[in-house]
Amino acid sequence: MNILTKTADGSNTLFNETIGEHYHSSNGALQESKHVFLEAGLKFAIAQKDEKDISVLEVGFGTGLNFILSFAHCEENNIKLNYTGIEAFPLTEEIIKQTGYDEYVSKNVWQDFISKYDYALGNRQSLSSHCELEIANTTLANFKSSTKFDVIYFDAFSVQHQPEMWTDDMIAHTCSFLKSGGVFVSYSITGNLKRAVKSCGLKVEKLPGAAGKREMLRAVKQC
Ligand SMILES: C[S@@+](CC[C@H](N)C(=O)[O-])C[C@H]1O[C@@H](n2cnc3c(N)ncnc32)[C@H](O)[C@@H]1O
Repeated sequence: MNILTKTADGSNTLFNETIGEHYHSSNGALQESKHVFLEAGLKFAIAQKDEKDISVLEVGFGTGLNFILSFAHCEENNIKLNYTGIEAFPLTEEIIKQTGYDEYVSKNVWQDFISKYDYALGNRQSLSSHCELEIANTTLANFKSSTKFDVIYFDAFSVQHQPEMWTDDMIAHTCSFLKSGGVFVSYSITGNLKRAVKSCGLKVEKLPGAAGKREMLRAVKQC
């Protein structure tokens, strides 16, 4: 059961009763999504590329907040976006509509997302001439892909509530989908996570965290 709750910046999140955790930071869902995934992840990776295209893999697609902000940014900047979300427990379209996240993007972006959401579960869909989305309805452990991505958004529930998502094996599995020079970002920066990404050949950076967190992790796969 998921309950809609307000976070400190006025944006909503969901509380997952089974796991006992919110989908986003209670210090600000929108703020966290922009700070960790859009600014430190997507925009950083785009700045490193010569071509105007980007591929993103998200672990824990959830409400799609990270996706719609990424989609809006790519639409505004004429960048081709190829986005894959992994989600073991997809939310219904009805719940996603209740989040109020339509306020944060243009009408077109929201409509393109909502109208294709159900179809994107398990199938790649064109949302616009610039954006393709697929939500792999599977667990991270069972996810397979021959594609390597420019950016990975690692947005699992916390290690305290879902430790099985943060094991060395699961991090190595996730990093295996990253291109050389690709960027891994997470709101979390535990010692274990740093060690695990380093042992996959990534160079770790500590960045200032989203509201309420001192630090976050960004790591770049070395060539
Ligand atoms: C912190 S929330 C993600 C929030 C999401 N990025 C958003 O913007 O709404 C974690 C997500 O991971 C999903 N999840 C839980 N266990 C999973 C697993 N084993 N594999 C893939 N996804 C999982 C949950 O259903 C939830 O949607």
